[in-house]
Amino acid sequence: MRLDVVTIFPEYLAPLDLSLIGRARRDGVLDLAVHDLRDFTHDRHRTVDDSPAGGGAGMVMRPEPWGEALDAVLAAGRSALGDDTAVPTLVVPTPSGTPFTQAAAHELAGLPWLAFACGRYEGIDERVLEDAAERMPVRPLSIGDYVLGGGEAAVLVVVEAVARLLPGVVGNPESLVEESHAAGLLEYPVYTRPATWRGRSVPEVLSSGNHALVARWRRDEALRRTARRRPDLVERLDPAGLDAADLALLDDLGWVLEHGRLCRAEP
Ligand code: ADE
Repeated sequence: MRLDVVTIFPEYLAPLDLSLIGRARRDGVLDLAVHDLRDFTHDRHRTVDDSPAGGGAGMVMRPEPWGEALDAVLAAGRSALGDDTAVPTLVVPTPSGTPFTQAAAHELAGLPWLAFACGRYEGIDERVLEDAAERMPVRPLSIGDYVLGGGEAAVLVVVEAVARLLPGVVGNPESLVEESHAAGLLEYPVYTRPATWRGRSVPEVLSSGNHALVARWRRDEALRRTARRRPDLVERLDPAGLDAADLALLDDLGWVLEHGRLCRAEP
C-alpha cells in the first residue's frame, strides 16, 4: 500500500518508523512518503494560512500550496506505483468528517493508495477539496467528537488502524478476529500468568481446558462489557447474530427484543 501525507509538521509523523508500521515499511508492505506543505509555497515566509473570508477568529489554509502539493503527490505516487492513471483516495482528517470506525479501517485497507491532507488552524480552503474531488475520491474523516490541533495525530491513528489489517503486518491474523469491534462488540477481558497476582485469580473457567465453556464465558463477558460501556453498540447489534444464550444474558442485563431491535427494558 502506498501512503502520502501532506503536513506542515513532517516530524510529527516520525512514529510511523516504529513498531508494526516501521517493520511493514522495511518489509515493503507499506511505502510511505511525507511531504512538507511549505515546500509548495513561493514567498519568503513560506506562508500557508490567511484570514477567513467573511471574518471571524483563526486562520484558514490557503489553496495554492495545497493545490501544488496534491499535484506533486499524484505525480510521486503514480511514479512509485508505475501506473500513470492511478489515483489515491484522499483522506482529510477533520472533526467535521464522517466517523472513522473499524469498518472504515477495513475499507481503507482494501485500497492500494491513500493520501492524507493534514489541516491545521480552522481548516483548509474548501475549494482544495472540491478541486481534488474532480480527480480522486475524497474522504473527510473524524477520529472522534473532540477537536485536535491538526490532522497529524489523526493520521497516526488511521494509519495504525489500517496498516495492522494489511496481510502480513500482524503476526497472527487470528488476533484480528476476536478483537473489539470485530463483531460489533467490545473485547472480553484477557489474563495471563501468574494464576494468582496480588490475591486476584484468573477466572477458573479459563484453565478448565473446556473450549466451549471458555468461548461462552468470553462471549458473555464481551456482551456484559459492551452493555455497560457502550449501550449504543448493543442497540446496533443484529439479533440474527445472537444465539439463545446471548439473548438470555441480555435479558438479565435488562435488554429486550422489540420489533427486531434490542432496546433497554422499561424499569
Ligand atoms: N482534526 C482536528 N480534530 C480532528 C478529529 N477529531 N478527527 C480528525 N481530524 C481532526
